[in-house]
Amino acid sequence: MKLIFLGPPGAGKGTQAIKIAQRFQIAHISTGDMLRAEIREGTKLGMEAKGLIDRGELVPDDVILGMVKNRIQKEDCKNGFLFDGFPRTIAQAEALENISAIDYVINIEVPVETLIRRISGRRMCADCGAGYHVSTYAEENCKCGAALYQRDDDKEETVRNRLVVYERSTKPLIDYYTGKGLLHTVNGNADIDVVDAAIRAVITQ
Ligand code: AP5
Ligand code: MG
Repeated sequence: MKLIFLGPPGAGKGTQAIKIAQRFQIAHISTGDMLRAEIREGTKLGMEAKGLIDRGELVPDDVILGMVKNRIQKEDCKNGFLFDGFPRTIAQAEALENISAIDYVINIEVPVETLIRRISGRRMCADCGAGYHVSTYAEENCKCGAALYQRDDDKEETVRNRLVVYERSTKPLIDYYTGKGLLHTVNGNADIDVVDAAIRAVITQ
């Protein structure tokens, strides 16, 4: 099974992707997590991407496509994969057509006030990638034991720009995938398990 999770920053793509990838034994491919790993490792790609990410801008399409092409060759993708945060532009979606077929595009819809509340309270695990919210998890460490951190691009000004960039560059993918008959919209403004069940209902229909 090959899936795309589409949605604005804070919609819950990462939160839901971890659950679905685990349940269906498919690879979770988050281009944002991959870029953050490059930054942590201090690679050339990571250093070039950092300035753009910290301003809430997109990383160039060719960089992302190179990363994704390599990633899906890996053994853990044999059973399928779930793209979280990719594609993010029409150009990326068009290029993906020559790389792999897709079974479902899940569009996670959440009102903007909720997005801002979620992002401002988000804490991430640098080790396993799990995401938490301070209102429901007050610990300093992840359930896996590693320390939690706040993402550099989660400060208010950057978040505002990420939302603008989403409207301009990524939202047009809703029409793009509707036209291809692949889009399924799920209400993301509900409890995490309710959203998970709605996504499962789409992909097991
Ligand atoms: P990326 O890491 O993909 O960030 P994003 O798309 O902005 O999305 P987020 O990760 O912020 O949100 P999410 O939807 O995963 O929400 P989450 O589950 O964490 O990209 C970062 C940057 O990298 C981009 O700005 C760009 O620069 C670059 N980049 C990445 N991919 C790229 C690409 N393809 N092309 C070009 N550039 C690229 O949830 C958020 C919070 O809400 C958490 O605290 C969570 O616990 C909580 N929460 C989640 N669901 C619920 C719920 N149902 N109820 C209550 N709380 C919830
Ligand atoms: Mg995410």
